[in-house]
Amino acid sequence: MPLVDRFGRVHTNLRISVTDRCNIRCFYCMPAENVQFMDRGNLLTFEEIERFVRVAVPLGLRKIRLTGGEPLVRRDLHHLVALLAAIPEIDDIGLTTNGLLLADQAQALFDAGLRRVNVSLDALDPVKFQQITRRTGYEQVLAGIREAQRVGFAPVKINAVAIRGITEGELVPFAQLARQTGVEIRFIEFMPLDAEGQWGRDRVLFGKEIIDLLSREVQPLVPVGQQDPHAPATEFEFADGRGRIGIIASVSQPFCGNCDRFRITADGKLRNCLFSHDETDVRAMLRGGAPDQEIAAAIEASIAAKNEGHEINSARFVQPQRPMYSIGG
Ligand code: 5AD
Ligand code: SF4
Repeated sequence: MPLVDRFGRVHTNLRISVTDRCNIRCFYCMPAENVQFMDRGNLLTFEEIERFVRVAVPLGLRKIRLTGGEPLVRRDLHHLVALLAAIPEIDDIGLTTNGLLLADQAQALFDAGLRRVNVSLDALDPVKFQQITRRTGYEQVLAGIREAQRVGFAPVKINAVAIRGITEGELVPFAQLARQTGVEIRFIEFMPLDAEGQWGRDRVLFGKEIIDLLSREVQPLVPVGQQDPHAPATEFEFADGRGRIGIIASVSQPFCGNCDRFRITADGKLRNCLFSHDETDVRAMLRGGAPDQEIAAAIEASIAAKNEGHEINSARFVQPQRPMYSIGG
């Protein structure tokens, strides 16, 4: 039986956060200091994650993305990739990483069966990088991207959060990088998921502004035909065929209507939406000896209770208690 919610959306796509820890401190995601991380014993083990996935597969799960925190701080992550890649119904496994540890781990991840990697990098200017992440490491991220391409990952994408006052000057350099290297750059509108209440609509650089600026200053951007209706990104190509740009307009053009995603946090809480206020404690079931049917029923119940959308644009909007690093990006 597929996981269909009240709005007819079929859920085939699971985002798995493997840790809330991170080696940098992006202001749109984490507090600057004194982060209270989860106790290690509260993180799901790779075997627990594998069991959860195996229970969800008969319900229609086909796609997985590993996230965090920073997933590569669990340095044996390739073991989890191997466990998941061995499940025949799982036809797509992706990783979202900040890239700092990627150069070291890219080969092992590739050998374990991972093929798709998204690197979060918000600025090509090292000073801006440090301003956003409040840490150093820009060169390591670039080395990670190069190594991922060398090892054979395809596609390699860059995710950049689009923040008014910061991202404008990065647009043309990113476009040039896309045109020179074949890496797709995706701009994600800044969402209210930060830990310090810094979000405001006036701090979002909107997708349409990005497309207009790049079309003016680089080359006209034209939408790519045949897009995946479930993909949050709308993809564009420069008119001369060189370089791809994706726009994830989470705020100005929400894509909740086509959502096919559910999530599990690093501490084993099932969430039906990035912005949901309710969670199901799957870890307690996994550790309490619950049979597969009970876990499957909990997944079905969570999807059945899913709301229509995030309501960022409504006066009713309430930011979830967990910031991004603790939910999983
Ligand atoms: N708004 C938009 N994107 C965010 N990310 C983290 N926090 C936010 C936010 N508040 C991004 C990360 C990563 C992706 C999983 O989500 O940079 O690329
Ligand atoms: Fe870390 Fe990613 Fe959050 Fe930045 S956005 S602090 S890289 S988890």
